[in-house]
Amino acid sequence: MGPEVIAEARKAVDALGLSIAWTELPWGSAHYREHGAMMPEDGIEILRAFDAVLMGAIGDPSVPDHVSLWGVILEIRQKLDLWANLRPCRLLEGIPTPLAGRAPADVDMLFVRENTEGEYAGVGGIAHRGLASEVGIETGVFTRAGIERIVRYAFELASSRRGVLTSATKSNASRFGYVLWDEIYEEESRRFPGVRYERVLVDALAARLVRSPQSLDVVVGSNLFADILTDLAAAIQGGMGMAASANVAPDVARGLGVFEPVHGSAPDIAGQGNANPAGAIWSAALMLDHLGEQEAGRALLRGLEDVCREGPRTRDVGGTASTREVGDAVVERVAIATAEHRPPR
Ligand code: NAI
Ligand code: MG
Repeated sequence: MGPEVIAEARKAVDALGLSIAWTELPWGSAHYREHGAMMPEDGIEILRAFDAVLMGAIGDPSVPDHVSLWGVILEIRQKLDLWANLRPCRLLEGIPTPLAGRAPADVDMLFVRENTEGEYAGVGGIAHRGLASEVGIETGVFTRAGIERIVRYAFELASSRRGVLTSATKSNASRFGYVLWDEIYEEESRRFPGVRYERVLVDALAARLVRSPQSLDVVVGSNLFADILTDLAAAIQGGMGMAASANVAPDVARGLGVFEPVHGSAPDIAGQGNANPAGAIWSAALMLDHLGEQEAGRALLRGLEDVCREGPRTRDVGGTASTREVGDAVVERVAIATAEHRPPR
């Protein structure tokens, strides 16, 4: 489904009239079936030549998920050291939420996910293959450097928002990695006296997301925990089709960023033309921001917000429109806004 939603996001970006040169990289499961690899061997080097990547989704029932995910997106995040994954969770006007009695004013969070280590470090193995004693070992990797940079960045982001930061761990049951995380979180907090910060165990936080999303501003968590929490958050903001993300290395000036909707390849609806392109379009807006085109990014997001409020909407958010109809509507809004702002010749 990746190509379907990315086509709409590209259209919407093109309607802004910026000079952007696109290169299509047809990597993924089809590439795997043809070449035996999800992307070319020098894929990471190829990516380094670009300013930004807008990515659809990876995965197909014909390829084992751990092969497809590790073949592209996890590899890219690690090898390019894109250590922060930003996932804004806002309920846009016009989009139904499954939480009773909640309105857009209640749901405005930013998840900051550690993106290169933790439970997704890729450390471990399977031993005694095929024997009754077969064993799978998965090691969580938590480094001081890795925790410090993500936690500090989350404090910075919280300072620039409502000044509230929540850290999700499970340091009561897991006694090492998360205990170190908590210690470093406390250390970093001293640099940000203006931020009200708290530690919440991830299971309790999951419940709080549902009970009182309005109490959360910025949430920082490990690779696994923030992955899980942001599917819950996506559901609260209207579903997987709504959620956007940015993979970035905030310590690298003008560094490459990879922007992708939070959802996967949705094989259950792929090819039917009814996927929600909102998450992909929102991700493109994050990309423009990253490229220094903040004004264009805002215009694109405004166009998306207008369409969510007034329709058309796809099925998953209560409408009947196709992917393309929603994309066209965003393009129309963006084109009008762009024409109004363009100085007369
Ligand atoms: P998924 O996010 O693809 O789908 C979960 C549910 O949300 C499905 O019912 C799907 O129809 C719905 N959905 C997702 N995106 C939607 C959209 N834009 N509009 C409307 N409905 C939407 O997650 P799932 O099913 O667990 O995984 C499918 C494949 O995607 C697997 O191969 C998985 O490994 C892969 N995946 C890839 C990711 C990535 O590329 N970063 C992230 C998550 C999963
Ligand atoms: Mg996920």
